[in-house]
Amino acid sequence: MTAATILDKPLGFALTEEQILIRDAVREIAQGEFAPRAYEVDKNHRFPRENWDLMGQSDLLGLPFPEEYGGSGMDHVSYSLAVEELAKACATTSVIYSAHVSLCASPIFIFGTQEQKQKWLVPMCQGKKMGAFALSEPGSGSDAAAAKCTAVLNGDHFILNNSKNWITNGIEADYYLVIAQTDSKLKHKGLVALIVEKGAPGFTFGKLEDKLGIKGSSTCQINFEDTPVPVANMLGQIGDGFKVAMVTLDGGRIGIASQAVGIAQGAIDHAMKYAKERVAFNQTINQFQAIQFMLAEMQTNVDAARLLTHNACVAQDRGEKFSPLAAQAKLYASEVAMATTVKCVQIFGGYGYVTDYPVERYMRDAKITEIYEGTSEVQRLVIAASVLK
Ligand code: CAA
Repeated sequence: MTAATILDKPLGFALTEEQILIRDAVREIAQGEFAPRAYEVDKNHRFPRENWDLMGQSDLLGLPFPEEYGGSGMDHVSYSLAVEELAKACATTSVIYSAHVSLCASPIFIFGTQEQKQKWLVPMCQGKKMGAFALSEPGSGSDAAAAKCTAVLNGDHFILNNSKNWITNGIEADYYLVIAQTDSKLKHKGLVALIVEKGAPGFTFGKLEDKLGIKGSSTCQINFEDTPVPVANMLGQIGDGFKVAMVTLDGGRIGIASQAVGIAQGAIDHAMKYAKERVAFNQTINQFQAIQFMLAEMQTNVDAARLLTHNACVAQDRGEKFSPLAAQAKLYASEVAMATTVKCVQIFGGYGYVTDYPVERYMRDAKITEIYEGTSEVQRLVIAASVLK
């Protein structure tokens, strides 16, 4: 079930046959398997391990990486379509997926040596290992350079101390890309990017966060107490950590924009169906112009958000600078997702406010897209820096 969008009859921006195949294949899995359990996953705050396993069996977990690393060699428009389809069915599953691909596998692919890619990227693409990204801290989110997690070089190891917050895939992941400070006097130029494996000495988990939405995804604090991490686990050099984080987030923001598009489209699809069934004043409510205008406006906004998102993907695939395009896509798509899901709840009236229908879940899930991987305010900063140059 999905509403017709301009991308079904594109004007000048046609999806390739391969992209349509990926989209339809992910749609089938997501609608057939993930949508039916999304309510229960949300209600029980349950990490849907079976969804992860099925994504692995369906070769989705290495979608945008070359086949030599166990990936499928698809472009980022395909990746965006996959995230959108997952989010349309189950936002929890889409963030498990995008954190793994965009925030951990992708920086290993971009910055890793051949040896590092063979060691970590291959099992991640095969679905044998799950990735996570650890940048934010209890005392720093938007100000990413203010990290207080320390990495002190001691022979052929770094010794990690302190905590990282809001870690998506929290206790479920196997590999954590951790950004830590080697010398606080150097600020962002002292940061280092390290792959820390689950089970490392002194590496422990804090409490699972009780979130407003994406409740099935595991989010927790991670703590390091004299945790030794081999120098061989460093991506790039000492001092490259901030760049690794920023480049990672550029790609991650496309993932979140795609997630926001999927959440918004999913909510509209439910609202369209409901509006065709619900009778008031002797007619179905889709015959009222008030409802028609809401749906028309919402679909227009979502199609615009999708086009901005694909625009950033195309720039990324061409190897062009796409940081401000990713910020535009994330800013616009996340704000559209929030506004759209609020309106969809309105179309359902009282039924939108209870869990009999899924739109309240979409509204709760939408909010985080305006916050994680850079708030809307941070996206505006990135866009402003680009347009004012
Ligand atoms: N690519 C490469 N380099 C970049 C870059 C990019 N996109 N952006 C900045 N840089 C470089 C700059 O060129 C500069 O380099 P030099 O020092 O060599 O000149 C350096 O990084 C510092 O740049 P700024 O002065 O612009 O940095 P800043 O400290 O002012 O920060 C910011 C800018 C945009 C606010 C940045 O800190 C930021 O993006 N903050 C938000 C962080 C964020 O998104 N956190 C979310 C964490 S992940 C998450 O949400 C959890 C999850 O699991 C989903």
